[in-house]
Amino acid sequence: MTIPKSDALVLFGATGDLAHKKLFDTIQALYRRGVLNGPVIGVAKGDGMTREQLIERAREGITTFGRGVDEAAFKKFADSFQFVDGDYSDPLTFENLKKALGSAQHPIHYLAIPPVLFGEVTKGLKAAGCLENARVVVEKPFGRDLASATELNELLHEVLDERQVFRIDHYLGKEATQNVLYTRFANSFLEPVWNRQYVSNIQITMAESFGVEGRGKFYDETGCLRDVIENHLMQVVGFLCMEPPYWPDMERVRDEQVKLFRSIRTITTNDIVRGQFEGYLQEPGVAPNSRTETFAAVRVYIDNWRWQGVPIYIRAGKNLPITATEVRVQFHRPPDVVFTEEQAPFHDFVRFLFSPRIEIGIGMQVKIDGERMVGEPVELKVVDQQPDEMTPYERLIGDAIRGDQALFARQDVVEEGWRIVDKIISNSGPVHTYKKGTWGPEEVNEVLLPSGGWHGPKV
Ligand code: BG6
Repeated sequence: MTIPKSDALVLFGATGDLAHKKLFDTIQALYRRGVLNGPVIGVAKGDGMTREQLIERAREGITTFGRGVDEAAFKKFADSFQFVDGDYSDPLTFENLKKALGSAQHPIHYLAIPPVLFGEVTKGLKAAGCLENARVVVEKPFGRDLASATELNELLHEVLDERQVFRIDHYLGKEATQNVLYTRFANSFLEPVWNRQYVSNIQITMAESFGVEGRGKFYDETGCLRDVIENHLMQVVGFLCMEPPYWPDMERVRDEQVKLFRSIRTITTNDIVRGQFEGYLQEPGVAPNSRTETFAAVRVYIDNWRWQGVPIYIRAGKNLPITATEVRVQFHRPPDVVFTEEQAPFHDFVRFLFSPRIEIGIGMQVKIDGERMVGEPVELKVVDQQPDEMTPYERLIGDAIRGDQALFARQDVVEEGWRIVDKIISNSGPVHTYKKGTWGPEEVNEVLLPSGGWHGPKV
């Protein structure tokens, strides 16, 4: 059965920040690539803003935050663009939307709005008959914890089938994330060593050298665990550690993801260190006595045959020394019995750099030229590329338009993700201060030190 392509894109929150900074740029690119052909309809409480002003705002957003205006593609967008100005609690808004949709048969509704409004909007859509054969894209956060995520899912399922729901996590749309899965299973040499027999530990670092950048209010309610660890980085763990999925049915990837998540131990308070950068409390929008973490390091264990006992260390934070995301799979130290170097090599690893470029490297120890049996670490770089010009948003919205859910978070995966962090998410344990430009609080090295030490991403 062929899945129909969406023939209209409805953007809720059209006057908001996400639309301004990311989505209009994405929409322009989708027109340029010919992925989107139907009209775009913006919906928002415009407070007097006209359609023309909103088009100008889109142009400005693409120029300032996006990849620059492509006049031909932008014209396609602007010519088709309609604006429904209205309150989400008013049935008239949805009746007007229905009219604007005209003959569109398979609209896609993008909810770039706070999750508290999801219920109201989806019910309004249903009542006006706008949900038939429609798809709905929802933005993170999918809840704040397990209970609220379950509640949110129930709310969506009151009017939508799971096949209509597309939960966007842009890490799943990254070329680098897909590369992890591909590299693992498109090569036979990795698979035999990708397990507890050979792997000593796994480290995932997502470092950002900037702070909360005007998002103080959002960030203060969210914190590092919810912002990037529970969602983005756990999805990476999924691709890194899952069993081989049955191809080409991409739904099986999500089956393997949830199977893996079910075997991940709920993280305890002994396996987390939180930090807050100095000066955070002075950021606009941040509560004066806030205990929100801007850095977190956690240790995760997977209780399955392949991974039991292999610690996975994940750390992420704002105002760290560099901006880079990297995964490092560290192999066990070889036995010390053959060569008598002072420091036995502990260099074997596979490294996936996600940003600022995509790199895959294999670390080895090789002999130095000469009489002595001593070596030096080298790295075999397998891939070294600039990120594709297609952004994760473009990739994912394109998939949603085509009706492909494989790279969207399924309900069971989301709920398992929250279950994994359930004991630490609202924990009131210590939050240690760290200086801007450092790798987080000192306590990380006391409490969560991987064997062989932390490795900063190689950028
Ligand atoms: C977002 C977070 O989801 O991901 C931000 O809200 C974070 O705080 C961003 O900076 C990181 O994404 P990327 O693609 O730049 O690694």
